[in-house]
Parts: sequence; structure tokens; C-alpha cells
Amino acid sequence: MDEFDLDKYLRVSKKVDLSGVAWGRIAEHALAVDEARCLAYMMDIESHTIIFLRDLLATRAAFDPDVTAFLSCWVYEELWHGEAFSRFLGEAGYDLGPDRERVWGDAPYPSRRMRNTWIRRKVGAKGYVSHVATLGAAAVFKDFVALHMTWGCLNELNTLSAYHRLIAKSSHPVLVQLLERIIKDERRHFAFYRSQARRRLARSTQARTVTRWAMEHLWAPVGTGVRPQEETDHVIAFLFGDEDGLTATREMDDTMRELPGFAGSTLCLDARRATLARVHGHASRARLATPFAAYRS
Ligand SMILES: [Fe+2]
Ligand SMILES: [Fe+2]
Repeated sequence: MDEFDLDKYLRVSKKVDLSGVAWGRIAEHALAVDEARCLAYMMDIESHTIIFLRDLLATRAAFDPDVTAFLSCWVYEELWHGEAFSRFLGEAGYDLGPDRERVWGDAPYPSRRMRNTWIRRKVGAKGYVSHVATLGAAAVFKDFVALHMTWGCLNELNTLSAYHRLIAKSSHPVLVQLLERIIKDERRHFAFYRSQARRRLARSTQARTVTRWAMEHLWAPVGTGVRPQEETDHVIAFLFGDEDGLTATREMDDTMRELPGFAGSTLCLDARRATLARVHGHASRARLATPFAAYRS
């Protein structure tokens, strides 16, 4: 059983080290439209972390000093991941909606104010509903933190696996370099959530039963709901739709099954199957990617 060393994490937490990233050389290499579209999704989800945190801090998760100490550093690190992707996309020549802001490697912080405001407004009413639902669940379920930690564990695992898949698929050397730096943070995030989930699920039958039910009925892949469903579907189909992606999906489920109460669960395989059914039932991937290509200046 690996115990997460919170003291060490808090001491070493810092913004992702991007020294030596060749910002000026990004445009020298082709970036596939599918990869750019995944990166835009990843950027938006990383940048949205603070909203997820807002919902959680209104629950009993805020009473636990270990959890709040971790979350304080975690949200800071996620901010810089969003900025790193924002800068990469800008240097690759992608000006994203709604304002097509020009972003470059050393652009002022924070970048893409208009886009982030636009996305948060679009999430709007849905965001309030999920906020109230989170509050309600936390009020009636005394082991809510076990669910929160399990949810966070799978979301960080999705993120970690998606970045590994993008590294495997991409031939852009600077993107690979950037992802390898960011992945180190994601590995620590996942380790914290997993160690908390494991401990909290192990000590309560009710925590295991309710958390398993909630994960199987309420959980959706990381980022679902922040961007339109076809964007989440595109990322999953592109990164996890092939044979290697299926292997990576199975590995995520294997990891989740090690948690107390999760024997036999197939959360990621189920999500992948549902995504591929939606994608193959609609337009081809090439057609879906076409409007995004227009953002390339
Ligand atoms: Fe991140
Ligand atoms: Fe993370």
C-alpha cells in the first residue's frame, strides 16, 4: 500500500517547470487538427478546475485540513497546466473563439479571459444545478469525502492516461516535451486522491456502497459538461478509440478495481463504449474536425 506523502507534496508543489520549452519552435512542426482539438479541450478543463473546487469547498470536504491543504496546491498547479496548453495552441497558430485572442509563449497572464468567461457563462445554469446537487449529496451522505476522493481519483487517472495517449500519438516534439512535464504533476494528483479514497472506502461499508453507486450512475469522464458533449466524445474516440486506447482503458479500470468496493467495476470501458456508439452513430470524425480547423490562423 503506497501512502501518499502529503508533507513532501506540499513542500515541493510549484507551477509546472516550463524552462527550456522551445516556444519559438512550436510552429516549425505540424500539429494535427485532432491533436489541437484535444489540447483545446484539455486547456478548458484545466482552466475550469477552480469552479469544481468552488463546489467542493461548500461541502464537508472543507472541514478536513489534509484535503484543503492538498486542494490549495492542486488548484494552483492546474491553473498553470491550462496556461501551458493555451500558450502552446497560440504558438501553433490556433486563435480560439469567441474572440480569437492572439496568445504566444510569453503573453500576459491570464490568457483567454474572454474564452474562459464565455465557457463559464455557457455552463451557467447547469453549474448551479450541479452545485446544489453537490451540496445536497454532501449534506445527506456523511462519507461524502470518500466519494469526492474516488471521483477525483478517476478524473486524475483519466487525465494522466489521456496525456500518455496523446504523447504516444503525437509526432510534435515540443508538445511531447510539454506533456511530459505536466504529467509529473498529474501523477502526484492521482496518488493523493487514490490514497485518500482507499483509506476512506476501507473503513465504511456505507461509503463503499454509496460511492460505488454514485460512480456507476452519476460519474462521467473528466470534463463532461464543461464543453459540448461532442468535444468530450472526440477526445475519447481519438485517444482511446483504437486498440492501444482500449488497452489503456482496461488499465484504468484495473486500477479502479483495486479500490475497496470496486471489484468487477468497468467504469471506463462503459464510458468508452457509450462514446463510440455516439460517435459512430453521427458524423464521421473528419467532418467533426473540420470546423475546428478554421481556427488555425
Ligand atoms: Fe492538470
Ligand atoms: Fe490534475
